[in-house]
Amino acid sequence: MDIYSLLRQDHQRVKQLFDRIEATESGGGGKRESLFTEIKKELALHKEAEESTFYAALGILPEMSDRIEEAMEEHVDIEELLQELEELDTGSDAFMAQLAELREEVEHHVGEEENEIFPRARELLTEEQSDKIAQEMLAQKQRLGAS
Ligand SMILES: [Fe+2]
Repeated sequence: MDIYSLLRQDHQRVKQLFDRIEATESGGGGKRESLFTEIKKELALHKEAEESTFYAALGILPEMSDRIEEAMEEHVDIEELLQELEELDTGSDAFMAQLAELREEVEHHVGEEENEIFPRARELLTEEQSDKIAQEMLAQKQRLGAS
């Protein structure tokens, strides 16, 4: 699988988790808790694996360095929102409001990756390079404990 399909798959998985957690009843209980745990894990793995492979390869290209720096700042913003969410009771309205903010931030980031970064990367990386990056990203996720 090429790196773009692999990353799109990540994006899709997170989107589904957001759909599922938003569909939980208010109060939410254990279901909401476990979905939130999955979202955290998914986003943390994505961040680590993407930064050390795809972003690392693109970030050294002068045409892309600013763009990648910006994307990494968005990863940090997402991480901060996750930390704030951890302080809240998953059953509360405040949690769901904050979660909606996280989703917006994640979707903004995903949109920029898919619509701006991917097309540029396709021009700049050979197929061989992008395949290699995909392999590295899979291996990295495995190492970090993806199930
Ligand atoms: Fe990302």
